[in-house]
Amino acid sequence: MTEGRGAVPLVEMRGITKRFSGVTANRDVNFSVEAGEVHALLGENGAGKSTLMNILYGLYRPDEGRIFLDGKPVIFRTPRDAIAAGIGMVHQHFMLVHTHTVWENMILGVKDTPFVLPKKKIINRIAEISGHYGLQIDPSAMVWQLSTGEQQRVALLQMLYRNVRVLILDEPTAVLTPQESVRLFETIRRMSGEGHGVVFISHKMREVMSETHKVTALRRGENAGTVATSETTEEALAEMMMGRKVTLDVNRSRLNAGKTLFEVRNIRVLGDRGVEAVSEVSFSIKQNEILGLAGVAGNGQQELCEALVGLRPLLSGEIKMNGCRMEGSSPRRFIREGIYYIPSDRKGVGMASGMDIVSNSIIKKYWSKPVGHGAFIDWRNSAACAKRIIEDFDVSAPSLHTPVRNLSGGNLQKLLMGRELSEAPKVLIVMHPTWGLDVSATRYVREQLLAARENGSATLLISEDLDELLALSDRLAVMFKGKFMGLLDDPASVPTEKIGLLMAGAPVEAA
Ligand SMILES: Nc1ncnc2c1ncn2[C@@H]1O[C@H](COP(=O)(O)OP(=O)(O)OP(=O)(O)O)[C@@H](O)[C@H]1O
Ligand SMILES: [Mg+2]
Repeated sequence: MTEGRGAVPLVEMRGITKRFSGVTANRDVNFSVEAGEVHALLGENGAGKSTLMNILYGLYRPDEGRIFLDGKPVIFRTPRDAIAAGIGMVHQHFMLVHTHTVWENMILGVKDTPFVLPKKKIINRIAEISGHYGLQIDPSAMVWQLSTGEQQRVALLQMLYRNVRVLILDEPTAVLTPQESVRLFETIRRMSGEGHGVVFISHKMREVMSETHKVTALRRGENAGTVATSETTEEALAEMMMGRKVTLDVNRSRLNAGKTLFEVRNIRVLGDRGVEAVSEVSFSIKQNEILGLAGVAGNGQQELCEALVGLRPLLSGEIKMNGCRMEGSSPRRFIREGIYYIPSDRKGVGMASGMDIVSNSIIKKYWSKPVGHGAFIDWRNSAACAKRIIEDFDVSAPSLHTPVRNLSGGNLQKLLMGRELSEAPKVLIVMHPTWGLDVSATRYVREQLLAARENGSATLLISEDLDELLALSDRLAVMFKGKFMGLLDDPASVPTEKIGLLMAGAPVEAA
C-alpha cells in the first residue's frame, strides 16, 4: 500500500486530554489523518480508542487540546457539527433508529430535516452511493429487520450520504462474517482511493497489517507511537501496545467426557420475520465437553440459542436437562437448572446499560442467597460478588458503581463473561465469546472456557472464528440455513477447507 501524501492533514488532534471521574481516558494525545490514508488505531481494551474518536466526532469535549481541520482550528459541540465539517463515525454499537426504514435513517438527525421527506430523491441517492461503494441494501427495509452486517452497511451509507471526508470505523469487523469483512475492505479501499481518510479501530492484527497505511497505538490513554504499516511487524505493534508479547495458544487437556447432560431433539424455531429459522436440529452435550458450532452468522444460531435458554418458544421438539423436559419453561427455570447464556448482543439481553456494575453482576440471582434475602437484596454481598468478578476477569472500570454503558466495549464483554462463568454453570451456551477483546483478554476467556470444561460444564460454543473453534471444541457441528450440516468427532483432524464447505452448505459426503 502507498504512503500518505505528506501535505496538511485532513484532521489533526493536538494534545488531547480527556478525564472521566476516576480515569484519564486520553492523555496529551496527538493524532492526525491524511487524505487517502487508512489509519489504524490500536490498543488494549480500555486504552482510550473510542474516547479519542468520540471527541473527534463531537460526542465528547476534550478537557485539553485542540482539533484542526485542513490546518484551521475547529470546535465540535455535537456530532452534527462534526458531520457538517465532513467527519463521520460508525460506532461499535450502531446508532440507528430501528423503527424506521433504511431511507428514513439517511436524513434523521440532519439539520433542517424538511417536513415532507423527498422519498424518491433519497432512494435514488442511496442507489447511487450503494452502487458506487458496493453497499447493497434494500432502502425500504425496516432497520430492525436487518442483520448486524446489513445494519452496519446502513450506518456507513448514512455517513457517505452526508458527504463525509473522514470516516471513523470503531471495530467494524468485530461483528462481521469473514465474507462481509472482505466486502467492507473493498469499500474502504474505494474510499481511500478517492481521497477520503479512514480511521480503522480493530483488535485483529491480520487486518491491520494488510489493510492500513499507518498505525497509531494507544497505551493507557497515551500515544505510544505512530508508524507506517509497511515498516512494522505484528510483534513490534504488540510491544508498542502492551509492552510484551502475548500469544493466543491455550492448552486443551485430554478429558473423558461425563454423562449426557443437555439434549435437544428435532427442535424447530421461528425467527423474528415469521419464517422457520431452526429446522429439526438434534444434538446432545456431555459433562466436560465443548460442542463447537461453526457457521456464518444469520444461519439460525441466534434463534437456536434463544430457544435453548427459554427465551424463544419451540414450534416442536424437545429440550432435556439431566433427563428432565424443559421446553415451555420460563427463562428463570433454565437459569435455576444451571443453564447459562452469554449472548452476542452485550447491550440487549446481556446487560442493563444504565445500571451499575454491582446490579449487573447480580441480575440473574437477586432472588437467591447470598445476594437475595426474601424481598431484599444484600448489597454488601452483591458488591463483594461484583468485586470478585472484576478482579478475576481484569475488568478495568472507575468504580463498582459506574453504569455499564460507560465501560469500554471490551471491558463490558469481560464483565459479562465473568458474571456467567463465576456461577459454575452446568450448561453454558456462549456466542462469540471473544468479539471485541484484545489479545490478553481473548486468551484469558478461552482459558476460562476450558476451565469450565474441566469442572464439568457442558458447553455449546458458537463462533465464526475457526481457529477458536478448533482450539476449544471436542466435537464440532456446522449450521447452515437452520440445519445442522454435520457433526465432526475429531474436528482438529479435519482440514479447515472441508469445514468451510460445510459452512457454505455442501452436504457432508461432498465435503
Ligand atoms: N462516558 C464515560 N464515563 C466514564 N468513563 C468512561 C466513559 N467513556 C469511557 N470511559 C472510560 O475511559 C476508558 C477508555 O475507554 P474507551 O472506551 O475509550 O476504551 P477503548 O480503547 O475503546 O477500549 P475497547 O477496546 O474495550 O473498546 C475506560 O476506562 C472507560 O471505562
Ligand atoms: Mg472501544
